[in-house]
Amino acid sequence: AVLKVDASPQHARKIPETLFGIFFEEINHAGAGGIWAELVSNRGFEAGGPNTPSSIDPWSIIGNESVISVATDRSSCFSRNIIALRMEVLCGDCQAGGVGIYNPGFWGMNIEDGKNYSLVMYAKSLENTELTVSLTSSDGLQNLSSATIQVAGTSNWTKLEQKLVAKGTNRTSRLQITTNKKGVIWLDQISLMPSDTYKGHGFRKELVSMLLDLKPQFMRFPGGCFVEGHWLRNAFRWRESVGPWEERPGHFGDVPIGIISALHFLDYSLIIFSFEYNIYKLSEDLGAAPIWVFNNGFSHNEEINTTAIAPFDILDSLEFTRGSTNSTWGSLRVAMGHPEPFPVKYVTIGNEDCTKKFYHGNYLKFHSAIREAYPDIQIISNCDGSSKPLDHPADIYDFHVYGDSNTLFSMRNKFDSTPRNGPKAFVSEYAVSSNGVGRGTLLASLAEAAFLTGLEKNSDVVQMASYAPLFMNDNDRSWNPAAIVFNSWKQYGSPSYWMQTIFRESSGAVLHPVTINSMYSNSLAASAITWKTSSSSFLRVKIVNIGSNPVNLIVSTTGLEALVNMRKSTVTILTSKNLSDENSLSNPTNVRVVPVTRELPNAGEEMFAFLGPYSFTS
Ligand code: AHR
Repeated sequence: AVLKVDASPQHARKIPETLFGIFFEEINHAGAGGIWAELVSNRGFEAGGPNTPSSIDPWSIIGNESVISVATDRSSCFSRNIIALRMEVLCGDCQAGGVGIYNPGFWGMNIEDGKNYSLVMYAKSLENTELTVSLTSSDGLQNLSSATIQVAGTSNWTKLEQKLVAKGTNRTSRLQITTNKKGVIWLDQISLMPSDTYKGHGFRKELVSMLLDLKPQFMRFPGGCFVEGHWLRNAFRWRESVGPWEERPGHFGDVPIGIISALHFLDYSLIIFSFEYNIYKLSEDLGAAPIWVFNNGFSHNEEINTTAIAPFDILDSLEFTRGSTNSTWGSLRVAMGHPEPFPVKYVTIGNEDCTKKFYHGNYLKFHSAIREAYPDIQIISNCDGSSKPLDHPADIYDFHVYGDSNTLFSMRNKFDSTPRNGPKAFVSEYAVSSNGVGRGTLLASLAEAAFLTGLEKNSDVVQMASYAPLFMNDNDRSWNPAAIVFNSWKQYGSPSYWMQTIFRESSGAVLHPVTINSMYSNSLAASAITWKTSSSSFLRVKIVNIGSNPVNLIVSTTGLEALVNMRKSTVTILTSKNLSDENSLSNPTNVRVVPVTRELPNAGEEMFAFLGPYSFTS
């Protein structure tokens, strides 16, 4: 079989700088209990709802009813976060270690030897009293760190801060707050942050590092369905995510995913200052263009009539990110420590809402308001313009595809016949997600790789693409599979993640046409790019073989003028024993990318490649 690459300049085309990026959505505990390093779950006791007494889950009580009585009440000093915990200690000299409460975090806290942890909490006691805060093993028997805090008797709430240094490692630890003093004490807004986070910005380092390895050119956020909610009352509200963390009310995420409802309380802990602020910070840290998705009046079950909706919220949000330092919301950004605007150049109006009755009307209202205030912002519509022109103004349209591996493989030609003169496509969600996908198989990643070669080929009309979902806590597989899976201390990339690393140089590279001459061409997909760094020039040919036959391939390249100095070739293979193989926390590289470096005297002009059955070679 022969694969010909025409690298002549007259047939070359630049791929958009933005082609491959990421989509961060707050599902599967992607943020809280995920990339955000906060260790306490249900920090403000709001997760049990507004009526008291309420559940304090996942907090538990240390000591039985004869020595301690614990219940929530509405006595917090934070008016938008009114629930607090009242703890009445009935014993004077209690059991060893005292009585109190403990929090196991998000399926266990990862506490590491020698590292620092910052505890912040609010307490109120009418009498002088004393609290012991400790990091312990999940059964409370191993003490990793502990400190005693004096609480002065007053009718006011007091903010308490304590540094804890771990003297041992335990991956499933808990935070204990105990006392031996008789009396009543109220507790609220309890936060425990490791100091060792990415650039000190509060994000888990290893997870950020996996994102950086994808070289994402953009970051779409915060959803997805998370933007809509099952009910509007549970849709994301950026305004509630702004301000000091203790005062943010949070909300119930109720995104129904398949038959599982991913209901969980979000205290917008993805913050130092605000969810929105920190997500923008993350996109800045990654060097990825932020793409904000707005709710324009839809949940899964409700619609707001066009006559009753106005885009004020969205304009305020854009003022927060881009407004001048003396504007109302821009000055809040400045107060949070970011005088420079966040460079928002794209916004999406709605998520998967095109077929809703009021979508067009609401969209047009939002579109004209955003266009008038920010003429340079590219506006993304939910309606599919891949087959016929849109009937409304848009710079880009959103396109989502989920299906089995056959679907994704066949979709590699999806944009071949798309009109070339309309808005560009943003494939903001794609994944093999059904029919034996398990927890993300080698086969799924091969089909997705073939799909992406089709997007590269059509990158004159496809401007951006991102896999979905990005993250998953292994303990919350609400939407399966995901690219990066983690627990409190470990993480791994699914085959789809590793597949994406092989595409990371494509954004902004030069695309060259390829032709395949093979009896197996129906099961092959390929693309070729070149790019340069300050010191070298590179040619990358990617070939997916989704068939059961091995293929011996001659890769013949013509027109490689700019690359005459190329001397070394590297073969990278995404491989495993079986098509259904997956990665896991215990076997993170079962399906892996294996780079094999070969020196070739005439590399670049004629190369030989062995394509194993069901393989992705580049
Ligand atoms: O990626 C998971 C979900 O799939 C997203 O929230 C939604 O947009 C899509 O239906």
